[in-house]
Amino acid sequence: MTESRQSIHGQWSSRWAFILAATGSAVGLGNIWKFPYITGENGGGAFVLVYLLCIAVVGIPVMMSEIMLGRRGKQSPIHTMRTLAQEERAGGYWQLVGWFGVLSGFLILSFYSVIAGWALSYVVEALSGTFTEISGDQSGELFTGLVSNPGTQLFWHTLFMAMTMFIVARGVREGLERAVRLLMPVLFVLLLILVGYAMNSGGFTQGLHFLFDPDFSKITTEGVLTALGHAFFTLSLGMGAIMIYGAYLPDDVSITRVTMTVALADTVVALLAGMAIFPIVFANGLEPGAGPGLIFQTLPVAFGAMPGGVLFGTLFFVLLVFAAWSSAISIIEPVVAWLVETKGWSRNRAALGAGLVTWVLGIATVLSFNLWSEIKWFDKTIFDLLDYLTANILLPLGGLLIALFAGWVMNQNHSKGELGLEDTDYRRWQFLIRFVTPVAIVLVFLNAVELI
Ligand code: TRP
Repeated sequence: MTESRQSIHGQWSSRWAFILAATGSAVGLGNIWKFPYITGENGGGAFVLVYLLCIAVVGIPVMMSEIMLGRRGKQSPIHTMRTLAQEERAGGYWQLVGWFGVLSGFLILSFYSVIAGWALSYVVEALSGTFTEISGDQSGELFTGLVSNPGTQLFWHTLFMAMTMFIVARGVREGLERAVRLLMPVLFVLLLILVGYAMNSGGFTQGLHFLFDPDFSKITTEGVLTALGHAFFTLSLGMGAIMIYGAYLPDDVSITRVTMTVALADTVVALLAGMAIFPIVFANGLEPGAGPGLIFQTLPVAFGAMPGGVLFGTLFFVLLVFAAWSSAISIIEPVVAWLVETKGWSRNRAALGAGLVTWVLGIATVLSFNLWSEIKWFDKTIFDLLDYLTANILLPLGGLLIALFAGWVMNQNHSKGELGLEDTDYRRWQFLIRFVTPVAIVLVFLNAVELI
């Protein structure tokens, strides 16, 4: 049955093409911008430990499931879930997973693009030598200057959205694959250089202690939810992005192996980013809990002080933009594939439509840092709310449904065949996806709303 199904959107050319694309999706602002700042806000080591645990017992099994469902269904998440549910004689409501994904996709990309816009603007700042010998205070002012200006941010947000939709419109092989081939390895090397610099910055030991010494008195139930949500966010899980990439995966590729590779690469990049940033934070007396501006306030200080800083700084922000770019295309791909399937639109038209909606939504995030900064709900700005609603609620909820479907609804012969695992490994995956993953998600949810 699955053999006869084919993706109308094309297919990756090889296992490596998928690994690169999925890593491109996973590694992004989540690793380099978000991971350090939420680690800083949540007190360091204990948070990192919980996050790693979430990657292992929730992230990895869910990623395997998403790829498996996608490859079996070979369509946009909404249609994949509908087809697979029919196949298993389950209800049509499983499509909800796909619908959540569409909603999350619009919401996530709307703020993701604004932050990527910050990175774009920092390319220009780095290139023009603004960072040279900049102090911590000056760097803070530079960042505040950017976010308090709606016009500048709108400009960069618009540019980033245009870049994203341009690639998305060109389609899987042409657009997505080429964009990530070379850039991921270069970003990795640059992070190593930054860590090397941090080693000599005078704050290295303190930075490492902060990251890796767990002090459980510092973590709250809210922090645990943030760690879980971030496991989903950083691996691009819970909304069908990895599912649609799985739909383009050739049938003979081992799902377990690609999952492990992507999860490992993603985790290493996040930890390297932390190891680069916190030493700089401590060496310069900056604030680890500075929030979303953390890397934008700290890294310029490092680039400004190091030899070759203009070059490295420029290169770093260029690569950060690329990492964000290869993630952004995956955030909106489920929506675009769905528009092509149901409306019969061309990819160009679908990309333009989805892009326009996202662009408009993004304006709310731009304004939440300045003109609308006083508009708050539960003490959270619009940006904070979008981030919270998507990463901490919608993605884990999507992940829960995916786990339940893959573990309990899907016929075991089907999942076993797709995953191609030996008996014992299959049982392990099944135990995680049936019990550990759903229970962990539910417990964290209940805890966060303070029911237990
Ligand atoms: N994982 C990416 C990052 O860390 C962001 C991302 C891409 C994403 N696709 C996604 C997040 C789908 C949630 C869902 O930057």
